[in-house]
Amino acid sequence: METPVAVLVSGSGSNLQALIDEARDDPEFGARIVAVLSDRPGIGGLERAERAGIPTQVVAWQDYPDRHSYTTAICDVAAGFGADTLILAGFMRILGPEAVARFPNRIINIHPALLPSFPGAHGVRDALVYGVKVTGVTIHFVDEKVDHGPIIAQSSVTVLPEDTEESLHRRIQREEHRLFPEVVKAFANGRLRIEGRSVSWEGVVS
Ligand code: GRF
Repeated sequence: METPVAVLVSGSGSNLQALIDEARDDPEFGARIVAVLSDRPGIGGLERAERAGIPTQVVAWQDYPDRHSYTTAICDVAAGFGADTLILAGFMRILGPEAVARFPNRIINIHPALLPSFPGAHGVRDALVYGVKVTGVTIHFVDEKVDHGPIIAQSSVTVLPEDTEESLHRRIQREEHRLFPEVVKAFANGRLRIEGRSVSWEGVVS
């Protein structure tokens, strides 16, 4: 049985595209994208989903009075599509703790820096401004704190002297598009074990 996942997006959806491509090309992927949800209309992520024939729904942030009611609404919509897992692929809203209670250890986020360094909405820029020589990608389970839950996978990216935020983000995204489908596949096939903060991959020697 495939794991039914809802992918949440706020932007161009290039990570969503990597997941769509993998689901199409790899018979062992193990996850089925049952819906793509966003907090705003008119974004590339929704177009990519529509092109792939995946149902979409906008759950607009401003239609709800607070984070609690927004979180409940988007979780209800995801569950209504049959999803038992949320994949945050560039979703720029912070969900309330209700989401974690509802999908415990079943929400996965991708962050464009090596956590715990540079959490928040500007991970690429913050790393560049700080002057680090290495940054990268983190994929983690979501817990009650922002950019904090158990880390599933990381990959490093060297910062070049001539890098701008855009050029660095482009190279980070290349890593994201490689790593995210791998992680979702491992999760969907029941190969990730969580003990405290530590996540191990069954059957993978790294
Ligand atoms: C990614 O770099 C991700 O790490 C961050 O937002 C970006 C989304 O890009 N959270 P895209 O919409 O998948 O192209």
